[in-house]
Amino acid sequence: VEAKKEIIKNAIRGIPDFPHKGILFWDVTTIMLNHQAFQYTIDLFAEHYKDKKIDVVAGFEARGLIFGAPLALALKAAFVPLRKPGKLPGDKISEEYKTEYSTDKIEMHVGAIQPGQRVLLVDDLIATGGTLAAGINLVKKAGGVVVEAACVIELPFLKGRDKITGTDLFVLVEKEGL
Ligand code: PRP
Ligand code: MG
Repeated sequence: VEAKKEIIKNAIRGIPDFPHKGILFWDVTTIMLNHQAFQYTIDLFAEHYKDKKIDVVAGFEARGLIFGAPLALALKAAFVPLRKPGKLPGDKISEEYKTEYSTDKIEMHVGAIQPGQRVLLVDDLIATGGTLAAGINLVKKAGGVVVEAACVIELPFLKGRDKITGTDLFVLVEKEGL
């Protein structure tokens, strides 16, 4: 497990000064370029959740979709996209959240999660935790049971975990930065 985590960690690229000067951006596209690192990422998540009776994996647009969909297949669970505003065609419910500079919103189709279903939230990275906190609220609004949240990368110095107290967070790699 530790060797696999090391391979994943080494496959993540840090890009300085993106999207703003002074920000070190953790780029997961280099995990996806490396089929072994990508497979290990899904394998470690699947191993952790295989006995947790996950009915639905919900992934955040954009980068959470990439890890969430193959994990849903591995767990034989449904997959639900949590999308940015205006993208979903059907009736939807939404949740607003604050980022550093603006107010953002995520949306989910009505009926995508049935009341009582056990839901795992997936994203590539937790920074301030605002995105995950909004996703947790959205799943609860739909009547879903939030089992846990899973991210490839955590930036512990931003204390995003403090924003999602009550929900366990499982991460594969910790990074510094900023
Ligand atoms: C990034 C990242 C997480 C979120 C984490 O997404 O992929 O989803 O920020 O930040 P937080 O913990 O402070 O909420 P972003 O919205 O930048 O864009 P994306 O569509 O490329 O995933
Ligand atoms: Mg994102």
